[in-house]
Amino acid sequence: MAEATQAARFAMRIFSGIQPSGGLTLGNYLGALKRFVEKQEEGIEAIYCLVDMHAITVWQEPEKLRHATREAAAGFIAAGIDPERSILFNQCQVTAHAELAWIFNCVARMGWMNRMTQFKDKAGKDKEAASLGLYAYPALMAADILAYHATHVPVGEDQRQHLELTRDIAIKFNHDYGVDFFPVTEPLIEGVATRVMSLRDGTKKMSKSDPSDMSRINLTDDADTIAQKFRKARTDPEPLPETTEGLEDRAEARNLVNIYAALAGVDAVQVLAEYGGQGFGVFKPKLADLAVSALSPISAEMGRLMQDPGEIDAILGRGAERAEAIARPIMERCYDIVGMVRSRRTG
Ligand code: AMP
Ligand code: TRP
Repeated sequence: MAEATQAARFAMRIFSGIQPSGGLTLGNYLGALKRFVEKQEEGIEAIYCLVDMHAITVWQEPEKLRHATREAAAGFIAAGIDPERSILFNQCQVTAHAELAWIFNCVARMGWMNRMTQFKDKAGKDKEAASLGLYAYPALMAADILAYHATHVPVGEDQRQHLELTRDIAIKFNHDYGVDFFPVTEPLIEGVATRVMSLRDGTKKMSKSDPSDMSRINLTDDADTIAQKFRKARTDPEPLPETTEGLEDRAEARNLVNIYAALAGVDAVQVLAEYGGQGFGVFKPKLADLAVSALSPISAEMGRLMQDPGEIDAILGRGAERAEAIARPIMERCYDIVGMVRSRRTG
């Protein structure tokens, strides 16, 4: 479908999701949350979802899942998502996600799913023991996006392959049923921090599921913890280079420079103009100060919001009602296209 035709048919709408499977990290903040807020400020209609159904593709303790869902909601609001302007809700409260995921399970091909690298990473060595949900995960993600006819999806670099699959599913559905129904979604992967790496290993992404807490900055870490984690972050003995080419074979140094750049709202060239030639003994405390000044207002606000979980639940409930109002007619139309008879009397 030509871009121009699509633009005419589908109004720009953003959708993105984060799994409430642990605390939010600096990676989530720089790769996702901070950019969600920028999109909201541009005045684009945006729907943000805490994907609890994705989270249970690997085991979650029920009480921890409940807590993590509320804490992630608090993180979104504390980072600047206004639940009046944007829609913020948790996935299980809008049934269209699960319904459309089933249809997409029947559109996506085994061969496509077999190529998904996140499944391979998460399933580990024993693929036979992985849940069926973990395998089907990307079809549910396509359903999240397409249940709203979302046209743009801001995510970190790690989600690129899933968004390609979402496009493939939309194209195949439209082709098989001879319709122009689902938009072909564009990924929005931009900025210096689309892939924030682990503080212990510059080749692995910073993740809430890494067993080492020293590998990540959590949005709830206090100032001392943040400073200590940066101080202990793995680096090499060389001073910082003067140019970005000098970062090429230095994954850990590059990661810290990129984090600094993203937090300061500048690019890596500007960071090196200031710190090139300096050692990490100088750079790390500056980075820690910058991170503390960016994150401490967020963690303080999260703490305040978490005092009233009832209010958070009410916000998620209202968000779900607004999300449902968009997704339900799309779902009904989708059933018609597929040829499902629906004659039950409701209401
Ligand atoms: P997840 O925590 O895996 O549910 O990811 C939620 C969002 O945060 C997605 O848009 C990810 O691409 C993004 N994200 C997660 N970890 C990182 C990271 N280390 N660097 C950049 N973006 C990330
Ligand atoms: N798979 C995403 C992640 O692990 C989370 C996610 C689920 C998502 N559904 C989505 C992101 C829809 C964007 C749009 O990070």
